Amino acid sequence: MRFNTKEMYLLLFRLLQKVSKIDLHSLQVAYMSKSMGMELGFSKHRMNVIGFLHDIGLLNPVQVNQVQRIHGVENASMRNWLALDSGLQENHAVIGSRIVSKIKDIAELSEVVEKHHYYSMLLDPSNEQDVMANVIHLADTVSISLISGERTVKHIDEVKQNIANSNEFLEEARDAFEKISEKKGFWWSVVDEDTLYNEFEQDLEENTLSNNDLQSLGDILMYMTDVKSKFTTFHTERIAYLSRLLARRAHLGDERSMEVFFAAKIHDLGKMATPISILEKPGKLTEEETFIMQRHIFDSFLIVGGREAIEKHRLLQWGINHHERLDGSGYPWGRSGAELDLESRIIMLADVFVALTEDRPYRKGMSVESSLDIIALKYRADCSTNMYSLS
Ligand SMILES: [Fe+2]
Ligand SMILES: [Fe+2]
Ligand SMILES: [Fe+2]
Repeated sequence: MRFNTKEMYLLLFRLLQKVSKIDLHSLQVAYMSKSMGMELGFSKHRMNVIGFLHDIGLLNPVQVNQVQRIHGVENASMRNWLALDSGLQENHAVIGSRIVSKIKDIAELSEVVEKHHYYSMLLDPSNEQDVMANVIHLADTVSISLISGERTVKHIDEVKQNIANSNEFLEEARDAFEKISEKKGFWWSVVDEDTLYNEFEQDLEENTLSNNDLQSLGDILMYMTDVKSKFTTFHTERIAYLSRLLARRAHLGDERSMEVFFAAKIHDLGKMATPISILEKPGKLTEEETFIMQRHIFDSFLIVGGREAIEKHRLLQWGINHHERLDGSGYPWGRSGAELDLESRIIMLADVFVALTEDRPYRKGMSVESSLDIIALKYRADCSTNMYSLS
């Protein structure tokens, strides 16, 4: 079964939730942007999605690592992102717009993301995308003013006054906000997490993703995972291309080989949530640290959508299996033998081979020959699919 746009955006939601903890802010901005956009005659789906993705650039590794270093993964929050250097914050709009330009469903709105912190004087009110960008800027401002957690009529009046008197916003955006903010239901909805999630989820369109769209999503996720650490800059990319090559050599056919390619691109997605101090520790990991490091596979499982998603899309399992071993000694579930299909074995093998050849904080990478020797000796069982003889 093919993936659709709704599944893609929900995956990105879980990624934001796990890695950056800006999921509530993103949902608030999506809800307000959609509501204002409807007043202005814009598409509901597009405003919902672009409002939600406006800060996707915060997932770039420089910022992720900085927040994780200072505050720890578990304590990453909107407040901590706001406390970062302003130089880095400006970057997120540009990086975010580049990411959005790779998502075909909304690629034409990439400038909206780039301009979402622009003040009104830099925008053209006759340009629809400029108005959209300013609507998001306004929604963003309101969302940040709600972080304090105050839920009083007095605070709401202050927020409304600040928006009405600010010169940061275009008249179009201010008028639309005035209309939606008149209703008490708006103020209760915008701070209720369940309502916000339902609002977001229910207005996502389910458009089928072509293979190219899926591969582009894989590229975005692969880029984010790989650039997180200098030791893994090309890790996923190498594994993805090697896996595709092995799949073709194993005569899996074009379509399945491309599915293996995508599965390999997202196999280490959960590493986005692994603390950089552990990923780059210059010595051997302690037992506790190993436990945290190995959890990346479980985070991948959660981000792709857990059991329900895997039952629907078999290929999501292939990447999740990459640390399993045929003798049952792997993790996270200790699967063995027949439970590990050929596609999973391809990614397992590619992962071991590439990891051996790469530098790690505590050792240099090995030569191709030595890596192949180790695989032949240590992982012979895992190569019983004859893939080794195909290389
Ligand atoms: Fe932003
Ligand atoms: Fe924001
Ligand atoms: Fe891994």
